[in-house]
Amino acid sequence: MEKKKIFLTEDEIPRQWYNINADIKMNPPMGPDGPVTPDMLAPVFPMNLIEQEVSPERWIDIPEEVLRVYNIWRPSPLVRAYALEKALETPARIYYKYEGVSPPGSHKPNTAVPQAYYNKEFGIKRLTTETGAGQWGSALAFACSQFGLECKVFMVRISFDQKPYRKTMMAVWGAHCVASPSTETKAGQQILEQHPDTPGSLGIAISEAIEAAVTDASGETRYSLGSVLNHVMMHQTVIGLEAKKQMEKINEYPDVVIGCAGGGSNFAGLAFPFVFDKFNGKEIAIHPVEPAACPTMTRAPFAYDHGDTIGMTPLLPMHSLGHTFVPPPFHAGGLRYHGMAPQVSQLITEGILEPRAYPQLATYEAGMLVARTEGFISAPETNHALACVVDEAKKAKEEGKEKVILFNFSGHGLIDLGAYEQFLAGNLTNYEYPAKEIEEAEKILEQYPKPELIKSR
Ligand SMILES: Cc1ncc(COP(=O)(O)O)c(C=O)c1O
Repeated sequence: MEKKKIFLTEDEIPRQWYNINADIKMNPPMGPDGPVTPDMLAPVFPMNLIEQEVSPERWIDIPEEVLRVYNIWRPSPLVRAYALEKALETPARIYYKYEGVSPPGSHKPNTAVPQAYYNKEFGIKRLTTETGAGQWGSALAFACSQFGLECKVFMVRISFDQKPYRKTMMAVWGAHCVASPSTETKAGQQILEQHPDTPGSLGIAISEAIEAAVTDASGETRYSLGSVLNHVMMHQTVIGLEAKKQMEKINEYPDVVIGCAGGGSNFAGLAFPFVFDKFNGKEIAIHPVEPAACPTMTRAPFAYDHGDTIGMTPLLPMHSLGHTFVPPPFHAGGLRYHGMAPQVSQLITEGILEPRAYPQLATYEAGMLVARTEGFISAPETNHALACVVDEAKKAKEEGKEKVILFNFSGHGLIDLGAYEQFLAGNLTNYEYPAKEIEEAEKILEQYPKPELIKSR
């Protein structure tokens, strides 16, 4: 019988994460008076995570306590998508890393678990965070329950209303979730005064969660971010490092690597270990994929911008639609972010990554095809990767090439069925982000210094 799944044993889980900071040069994060120093971040994050954020070490040990929790669902399977290949009549061999096996159903706990662990080690009692689709909030709730920390989640209003079961998951793991903007923070109150009917945004929810952490007088609360930052990308590399070992077992190596990108973490997690190979001479096409309705990587400028709406975070060098961006209400809540991870943005400017954008309907069509061939119902975010996989498989057919395509199946869509219901009822539409909005963003971003266009090698 054909071999469908490639497994690793539990003792084959990687013992170290890959830190791409060792291999690329970046513009520094900026504060009002110049580059940000680690101590300036101390009210927001514990120092052990700040050290990881700025570490130049290529390999960082994964603590035993983190491995113990990873063991609940890792190693995740690598799966050959035979049925999808057949449906597409492609000569390409398609593989996916299935991250939907984690308790919350996505890749997000790969970083939630170490973040909870390092905060606990540092003596922190409580974490605050934001969540878009609810995947990150539920992942942090799960991780905090493993380490006995309290957890408070600000969930983007539109997702809070669309996905009530994510709230329930967070409550089961003992976390408290409120809709953002909320009346609990100054940031939330200010936005509600100006825009009482706002659907919310990740940028607003981040402002609220940071404010809730830094204003806690006990000093025992810190903030946790589910994407964008260097240490988050690094924790996620456990995905790509496992995938490499799995492909080695069957003598395969990818020609094309694909992942959807909201803040960039599941994409980076799969792709960065292969970017390392690309730096060392391998020929691989690597595609982060975003919604055409939120075209951060494909149309927005590479600029310094804040990670949140109110402007509480340092300025980060990244592709950005502007921190005041309020996204159109398409259903992939986890991809509705104005910015992109600085490391992913840097690699785009260097031409190492080739981003793609897809309209909403094409992503659901790809999700439907995968559900009806491979069986799993994917998260709407994951569907963006799938649309690109379908395109690449068709291209391989046209060119008559036996390409190997590897993609990240970042999460299942079982809490996203409302969105599938809307798609099946014909209620979803495509939305092209207006050029005027990009020009507006460029104007807003002109007030900040310009990042340098750096070549790492
Ligand atoms: C299943 C899934 N995939 C992808 C993403 C996008 O986030 P990131 O780009 O950080 O992987 C999310 C975010 O919530 C998600 O829930």
